[in-house]
Amino acid sequence: MERTLAIIKPDAFAAGNAGKIISRIYQEGFRIVGMKKLFLSKVEAEGFYAVHRERPFFAELTDFMSRGPCVVMALEADNAIRRWRDVMGATNPAQAAAGTLRQEFGASIGENATHGSDAPETAAFEIAYFFAGVELL
Ligand code: CMP
Repeated sequence: MERTLAIIKPDAFAAGNAGKIISRIYQEGFRIVGMKKLFLSKVEAEGFYAVHRERPFFAELTDFMSRGPCVVMALEADNAIRRWRDVMGATNPAQAAAGTLRQEFGASIGENATHGSDAPETAAFEIAYFFAGVELL
């Protein structure tokens, strides 16, 4: 069993798509081991995306992530990191395959509805960023 960090980003939450995305998570066989709704501050968003600090889109990304509420979840499944990335689709919704979450709910590379960890080390950092061990049951 592997765990990954998933986020329903502020664009998808504001559009009322959180329920559909959570329903899809169950359909795909993930277990939700942690879940909370948060309204990130700019500083909290910067800490989460610190690995992208030098990228030209960092300010835009962290403004967007602190624009409204989001839902953060720790998902568990065999091969959870790869599988959640497949369910989300490509980072840029314009390139995301039919039937993926970003194709269905994303508007642009910045406002792309969902986030998922990209490797075991980032999953460990990202899950620990939002959840204490006792919250992961
Ligand atoms: P995410 O999977 O959350 O990880 C980092 C995010 O940065 C990514 O999704 C995109 O939403 C965002 N991102 C990547 N490239 C760009 C870009 N060129 N312009 C704006 N945002 C970007």
